[in-house]
Amino acid sequence: MTLTLLPEFAPAEAVTRIVAASRRKQQPQSSGDLVSLAMGEPNFDTPEQVTEAAAASLRAGRTHYSPLLGEVALREALADKLSKIAEAPVSAADILVTQGGTAGLAASILGIVDPGDRVVIPDPTYSLYADLVSMAGGVVVPVPLADDLHWDLDRLGDALAGAKLFVFCNPGNPTGIVHSRAELEALAGLLDGTPTLVISDEAYADLDYTGRPFTSAISIDGLRDRTLYCQTFSKSYAMTGWRVGYLWGPSPLIRATARIHNTFNGSVNTFVQDAALAAVRTGDADIARMRAAYERRRQIMSERLAAIPGLTLSAPEGAFYQFPRYDLDLPSTDLVAKLTEFGVAVRPGAEFGAHGEYHLRLSYAASEEAIKTGVARLGEGLAALRGS
Ligand SMILES: Cc1ncc(COP(=O)(O)O)c(C=O)c1O
Repeated sequence: MTLTLLPEFAPAEAVTRIVAASRRKQQPQSSGDLVSLAMGEPNFDTPEQVTEAAAASLRAGRTHYSPLLGEVALREALADKLSKIAEAPVSAADILVTQGGTAGLAASILGIVDPGDRVVIPDPTYSLYADLVSMAGGVVVPVPLADDLHWDLDRLGDALAGAKLFVFCNPGNPTGIVHSRAELEALAGLLDGTPTLVISDEAYADLDYTGRPFTSAISIDGLRDRTLYCQTFSKSYAMTGWRVGYLWGPSPLIRATARIHNTFNGSVNTFVQDAALAAVRTGDADIARMRAAYERRRQIMSERLAAIPGLTLSAPEGAFYQFPRYDLDLPSTDLVAKLTEFGVAVRPGAEFGAHGEYHLRLSYAASEEAIKTGVARLGEGLAALRGS
């Protein structure tokens, strides 16, 4: 329907800013003969006992408003879990249950960033960060990653001077890189004596295949007191459609983010929080099962990608992504469009930042069969394009 009564309607400037800055595109799911390795979406069902907990909660009439910070029992269970991760006491009072990681990130960035503030992000990284900074009127400062897709600490140090905020994810989307304890300690060193805040998005923390214990930013002295920890149930528990996550951080930051989150979202669905509590209490074996499957799929994808001429692989250490570089002189959005003609959907590296150009992001959260077929088609497509 067109706006006949308001022909001169123009969206708010926040919308215009997001549209101007955004690199995000809706990607196709597998359909017909198209195999999609484009989605960051586990192909597993949510663990049955979690779904059962939601159903029981609904039947018990848990259909009313929840407290604005979230259900107390869930926040207490999360505080226990986070105390171990942070290697320090965590109070349930400083936990905010959010409408997925997306709303947690939105509340964090909108609660911290004023117009004109400089916000440093790695390039490439998860594309939502730049959109949210643009929405807040902040200035995005992308810092190119080193060739091995880890941080370039010299460049990062220069960019962080005078920055309000540094936002990153670990493990990385789209890179699959896991930042080590040494890297996080180096970041703490760069920030020492500055008021710069940090958002550590650890959506893929349970998916680390390095063999080393995963290091959270909140376990690092020098980061813990300046960091908002952003988490989601989406990836670890295959709960993308449930829309539940949480934030933890210093009390003043949580108060600010809660104000934004409550204004946008109100409270999170009560029965969904009951299901999330069941996931925290009973989901460890499910995480381990899915993680083992991803590790197998990662191996299958790596072996097949390594056999494709013209691709340079990075070390896929975590999450469920591979981010190979290709040697064709073709922008990644054009290459991705051409690859769909060969029956495979992947994501263009440039969607995650200018420095992601000449890379493709492939997800191995898809089935083994989809991975085998999709990578074979990628090989055929690249061979045909390299020959032409
Ligand atoms: C790094 C990262 N953070 C956060 C999210 C958002 O997750 P959700 O909003 O489903 O919780 C995603 C989703 O792809 C992601 O890749």
